Amino acid sequence: MNDSPRTVDRREALSAIGLAAAAIPALAVAQQPAPQPAKGPPIAVIPGNTAPAELKVFDEASGQFVLPALPYAFDSLEPHIDAKTMEIHHDKHHAAYVAGLNKALGELARIRAAAGDSSLVKYWANQVSFHGAGHINHSLFWQMMAPPGKGGGGPPRGALADAINKAFGSYEQFMAQFKTTATSVEGGGWGWLVVEPWSRQLLLIQGEKQQDLMVTGCLPVLGIDVWEHAYYLKYQNKRADYVNAFPNLINWEFCGKLYDRAVAR
Ligand SMILES: [Fe+2]
Repeated sequence: MNDSPRTVDRREALSAIGLAAAAIPALAVAQQPAPQPAKGPPIAVIPGNTAPAELKVFDEASGQFVLPALPYAFDSLEPHIDAKTMEIHHDKHHAAYVAGLNKALGELARIRAAAGDSSLVKYWANQVSFHGAGHINHSLFWQMMAPPGKGGGGPPRGALADAINKAFGSYEQFMAQFKTTATSVEGGGWGWLVVEPWSRQLLLIQGEKQQDLMVTGCLPVLGIDVWEHAYYLKYQNKRADYVNAFPNLINWEFCGKLYDRAVAR
């Protein structure tokens, strides 16, 4: 990144954090009065907290979030993830998150225009969180995988590999914790490797549903979807088998780009 370092207040920083922040302006308008900039020391903006070029998640012309195309064929992750699972997961589940996000934002706009039920702001705001996180999580997830032997699998390289070794001791120790983190998520959710931007450390965290338990501002580097819809056709109740197969699909090159962007200043 060649962006120059600069500092801003927390409100400006929040608007720059991650893709999910696209929903924040709508919520801020809907929930009057508008928040005042927080007092306190400024924090550094991390350049590049916008969608990578590989991701088309929002259409500027229509103002609508959109479903990005899969970067590979449905069957190209086999034998680790089957084609039917990929088809349903992308074309039905992910598409539903996109539709749900657009619907929720539309309803909030109607409420602001005094054409909707203002008692439902809380409900629609919650829907923005859930579907917005679902949309961004899955948009990243498709890119975080690649066909085995064709970009998928193998150990990480470069700065991300060094950071993993520093944070977790070794790749093997990282992967053991990653698998346990993902396998033990309660109900549906995600296992995430993230950069915590205030410390620039790598963390392994769980996300329940699409968005719960996420540390504010953390930037995703690698994630695994452990909702049953991600694996049940092939693995049924054996989530651990799916998690154990997942490293064969990890697109470390893409994850490395996310890491580089997250720590660049
Ligand atoms: Fe999913």
